[in-house]
Amino acid sequence: MRIAIFNQKGGVGKTTTALNLGAAINRAGTIPLLLDLDPQGHLSSIHGDAPLASSRSLFAFYQDLHSLHELEISWEHIGQLIPAHQQLIKVDSIFGKGPAILNKLRLGLDAQETTHPNRPCLIDCCPYIGVLALNAIFACDRLLIPISTDYLSLQAAEQITRTLEVLEPVLKRRIERRYLLTRFDRRRRMSDDVRHKLRERYGDDVLETVISENVSVAESPSLNRDVFRQNASSPGAHDYKKLMQELLDRGDLKILPTPPG
Ligand SMILES: Nc1ncnc2c1ncn2[C@@H]1O[C@H](COP(=O)(O)OP(=O)(O)OP(=O)(O)O)[C@@H](O)[C@H]1O
Ligand SMILES: [Mg+2]
Repeated sequence: MRIAIFNQKGGVGKTTTALNLGAAINRAGTIPLLLDLDPQGHLSSIHGDAPLASSRSLFAFYQDLHSLHELEISWEHIGQLIPAHQQLIKVDSIFGKGPAILNKLRLGLDAQETTHPNRPCLIDCCPYIGVLALNAIFACDRLLIPISTDYLSLQAAEQITRTLEVLEPVLKRRIERRYLLTRFDRRRRMSDDVRHKLRERYGDDVLETVISENVSVAESPSLNRDVFRQNASSPGAHDYKKLMQELLDRGDLKILPTPPG
């Protein structure tokens, strides 16, 4: 299953979710592939030792210099990573907006699947709709939309819904999406209000699991760690494990143990 993590609103927990959902999957015995499709390269910087050259990044895939497989690096405790590079920002202007470029990631991942069938793939997207985000949306089986628990996030959710309504006739399928409340603070009434309003609008597409505002989640990236290594008994670790389980239960994620070697 391929899950693209997208919201055009910045700072809502996309990268944090890619990191910690990846770590949860790894702890369940399966090695996921993480793609950093954001020119900001935040996920790659959390790795701590990702190559700095654009020729070793996803940009080289868009330049047809390397297959996705050739760009993978390993990430202890998480899985495999294909890093970003700031040059990715140029993909929109260099390669146009035709079907070939919009479907490039989907076809690249299809080719990967012949050697790695059933490997879960998480795509960390940039906070705007352009060729890169469209690549992720076209390639994914599920769109995971983190919504930070504040009122502006409701507007952002509506904007995404409108974008998806435009894309669905082009793709000739429904884009399955799940809304994930992040930075949830149970002490604030606003958190419950936002959850209630999201449920009213998007029903079962809103996940039961919410990710609480949590210090271990916030601090772990600066130490190049996921939340489980930071503090496995923290509320944040509990929430991300619960998220993985809910996605599994709903059929939004499938994991088979990765064979050794
Ligand atoms: N559950 C949480 N508890 C505390 N801090 C959090 C939580 N989730 C995310 N953060 C913090 O919020 C900030 C933004 O998170 P993150 O980088 O994951 O967002 P993003 O959506 O990927 O941002 P961008 O749009 O810039 O890519 C980071 O400093 C992160 O550590
Ligand atoms: Mg990010």
